[in-house]
Amino acid sequence: MCGIVGYIGNKEAYPIIIKGLKRLEYRGYDSAGVALLSNDSLNVYKKQGKVANLEAYSGDLDTSGTSGIGHTRWATHGAPNDTNAHPHYSESESIAVIHNGIIENYDAIRKQLLSKGYTFRSDTDTEVLCYLIEDIQKNAGTKLGESVRLALQQVVGAYALVVISKKEPNKLIAARKSSPLVVGIGDEGDFYLASDATPIVEYTRQVVYLDDEEIAVIKRGEELKIYGIDDIQKTPYVQELELHLEALEKGGYDHFMLKEIHEQPRSIEDCFRGRLNAEKGRVSLGGIREYEQKLINANRVIMIACGTSWHACLVGEYLFEDLARINVEVEYASEFRYRNPIIGENDIVIAVSQSGETADTLAALELAKSRGATILGICNVVGSSISRITDAGSYTHAGPEIGVASTKAFTAQVTVLTLMALSLANQKGTLSSTKFRGMLSELEAIPAKVKKVLESNQQIEYISGEYQGASNALYLGRGSSFPVALEGALKLKEISYIHAEGYPAAEMKHGPIALIDEEMPVFVVATKGMSYEKVVSNIQEVKARKGKIIAIVTEGDEQVREIADHVIEIPETDEHLVPLLATIPFQLLSYRIAVMRGCNVDQPRNLAKSVTVE
Ligand code: F6R
Repeated sequence: MCGIVGYIGNKEAYPIIIKGLKRLEYRGYDSAGVALLSNDSLNVYKKQGKVANLEAYSGDLDTSGTSGIGHTRWATHGAPNDTNAHPHYSESESIAVIHNGIIENYDAIRKQLLSKGYTFRSDTDTEVLCYLIEDIQKNAGTKLGESVRLALQQVVGAYALVVISKKEPNKLIAARKSSPLVVGIGDEGDFYLASDATPIVEYTRQVVYLDDEEIAVIKRGEELKIYGIDDIQKTPYVQELELHLEALEKGGYDHFMLKEIHEQPRSIEDCFRGRLNAEKGRVSLGGIREYEQKLINANRVIMIACGTSWHACLVGEYLFEDLARINVEVEYASEFRYRNPIIGENDIVIAVSQSGETADTLAALELAKSRGATILGICNVVGSSISRITDAGSYTHAGPEIGVASTKAFTAQVTVLTLMALSLANQKGTLSSTKFRGMLSELEAIPAKVKKVLESNQQIEYISGEYQGASNALYLGRGSSFPVALEGALKLKEISYIHAEGYPAAEMKHGPIALIDEEMPVFVVATKGMSYEKVVSNIQEVKARKGKIIAIVTEGDEQVREIADHVIEIPETDEHLVPLLATIPFQLLSYRIAVMRGCNVDQPRNLAKSVTVE
């Protein structure tokens, strides 16, 4: 949450920062701002709303200068208005700060500064930090880097921040703790800073991911220096970016979400490339191979995540239990960490996260690690915090996901979990060789089947037109289609603002059935498999109360077609793999409905993609 960008070098900073902020807008879009250093003056321009508002506003102002910082905000402390937008000035306006995270003890620091006679302009925790830096500098006579370091020693909380000062114009100071920050090293003595690598990749591939409690002292034309908060100098670990620029563009689609939905045949294939060979009967996830025996013998295997990634874990639970006969518990990271969980050395905690930065998931992992558990990660963003603190893990290789609503990351997470479950099943011998090989072939065939599901676009558009005016919706599924129902409901509510709930189909009669009338669309996964007949009965129960049924069925199904209002067919596949197909029509339905309702699909209200606050 919140995106930060910085630049210092020989080029004009403003266009680089604006472009970078647009790439990071998925992290928050309540307000945007820049601080630019030109001719000894430090100018801050900021505006409520999107980066485009800031651009329109700052167009006639002085945007020259070769160093600057920029911010796109997801509000935590203080309303989303111009005043609370970042950057924040220090009292004398000679320092400006951008910040992603939360200063938990900001009130205590604020009171301490108020007692010294300072008055604040905004309601934010960040402004307090900026004042503190200046206060330290004034009293201790320290340089900017040292003042930031001393200020951070007083701070409790999370931060990725960049500080600029007109008194030391050839320098930017950056620091991180629990919020991500990347430094890009240009080849002309210039430096780029950002919350992730997407604003940096078009200028350089050489990057350094800052670690927790590290401070970067970035001087124009000099070597990057990194210090611990304890002042011990460290050697920067320079990495080569693998990201490609075209992955960050819409590529002809109206929205990133639509592009990402359509990328799924490729992203699923990329996910199992080199890991799956059906012909040779092989499946292997290099990243976790060494931990497979441990997983098999573990006392407990706990999967933790938030939101969509939590739904992927629920699918994973079915797969691990049914295929590999390994018991799995799935927990919301936020609940797990505050419950004083009983966890020890023989337990394995697997975190699933697209961004690899979700604060609750990260903190839950740290807790598990501190109690001796082995921690594994399934992340999409390479180099993210979770991928770096885990003992081992597997990337999902879905490519950058920019639409705030997760789509291709979900199917990639489910693919990795399927590969893991199959590999473990193979090790344990819980599947016959015919079944095992059959499943590998089925998995290999999934990308082509996803392509086929995507062809139902026109029919989905028609159905979306029928239900775009709904105020509520129910999603039902059984077995591993229950998480698909949860995910369908989440997609609908987050981008179209229609209230939707997902339920195990059998649970409907324990309460939600009271909601059903002729106005209520009920989306059901009714594919062929073990619970097919039971789901058909549930559909009958809805129809008896005049509810509208939109069913996802297996190609050729006649029984549900007769009773449902609409059916969307998906190709036949192994029951364990149905989530990878059944989820696609739900993504498309949510997308189409949201577009018809005039919602901002890629940047839904109140949301941000990378949730780095608890
Ligand atoms: C929903 C969505 C969120 C995320 C959740 C976890 O579409 O994107 O629910 O799934 O915030 O994020 P990650 O996976 O980055 O940990």
